Amino acid sequence: MSFDSTPRDSASHLPPSGRTLTAHVDLGQLVRNHTSLRRAAPGLGLLAVVKADAYGHGAGPVARALEASGIDGFCVATLDEALELRAVDVRGPILVFEGEAPEALPVAAAHAIDLTVVSAEHLAALAPGLQKHDVSVHLKLDTGMGRSGILLDELGGCLDLIRALPGRVRGVMSQFSASEEPEGRSIRLQRQRFQGALAQLRDAGIVAPMVHHGNSAACLRGFSEGDTHARCGIALYGLSEVDEARQAGLQPILELSAEVTRSVRIAEGTPVGYSSSFVAPRALRLVTLNCGYADGFSRALANRAWVGYRGESFPVVGNLSMDMLTVALPEEVVVRTGERMTLLSRNPLDPNSVQNTARLLGTIPYEVTCALNRRVLRHHF
Ligand SMILES: Cc1ncc(COP(=O)(O)O)c(C=O)c1O
Repeated sequence: MSFDSTPRDSASHLPPSGRTLTAHVDLGQLVRNHTSLRRAAPGLGLLAVVKADAYGHGAGPVARALEASGIDGFCVATLDEALELRAVDVRGPILVFEGEAPEALPVAAAHAIDLTVVSAEHLAALAPGLQKHDVSVHLKLDTGMGRSGILLDELGGCLDLIRALPGRVRGVMSQFSASEEPEGRSIRLQRQRFQGALAQLRDAGIVAPMVHHGNSAACLRGFSEGDTHARCGIALYGLSEVDEARQAGLQPILELSAEVTRSVRIAEGTPVGYSSSFVAPRALRLVTLNCGYADGFSRALANRAWVGYRGESFPVVGNLSMDMLTVALPEEVVVRTGERMTLLSRNPLDPNSVQNTARLLGTIPYEVTCALNRRVLRHHF
């Protein structure tokens, strides 16, 4: 996205401090991604994964926009995140992924929040409370992810407890460990194990209305066949990197930008920033933006990242500070304070796209947007 497409009304929500570092989130594109995902996986219910503040995109506005466009429910990591959604009037089903303690049951019941059972031990701990409190649970089965869920060889020993919870088991779920990778042994094996466990539950008279194994990549690549739902996060945010996401037309929805707070001409040999890791090789225009590692913009991007300005990319130079970074432009480029520069672009091909920034950092797009913290203003449009 070019500089000119940055929303002009962003100043209206700024606090008096005038800090301008803003994540602009296009809710219209979010809804279009939702529609495209439905088209790519017809017949499958979609649960939007909006944990970690909707991967940094702002959980409240994102969830409300998705709810208005007909999403089937939401997933979050913690009970607090679920309560934050209820506090902003999100009314749809919400599932908490982390294994909440039995003490959470009254709150979950009061706010119609579903809980995940993350182990056989957790099931035993929750079971007495589930007799008293009207809370639905999703039984998570560990089919090969190896970090959460009832182990399949423990499932037989859980059947009596589960049968004693009539009406409480709303879902049976699992998680793929490698749904982005070409379909191989691990996906086939996990699907077989899941089907086997569902049959074991069925034989014991336990049938849940919801069955969900897949995330965005699994949903896009058809690994959710036979399930009722998929749990999708990254695809809704337009940052899934599987080919099928491109084919489905999913587009990023977040752009990060800030206003220039200083624009000066510096002479050849001028040191820039902590430890003078950059020294101007010639006369330059040096621009300062109030964006630093305390905002979640990694210090590892120093002397490596790119910033967009009027359709061109310019390098971040010098060490990134806690609250500021500096950008070098040719001496003759006129930049005024108050002009906006783009730190994370929505165009996947730009050097400062979320995807390319993740590549520079040796990480995944999820981490780049999740890192943007509360100090970053959110502007939803
Ligand atoms: C249990 C579970 N399901 C689904 C998702 C969504 O994954 P994705 O964002 O790749 O769609 C996550 C994300 O971390 C998750 O932890």
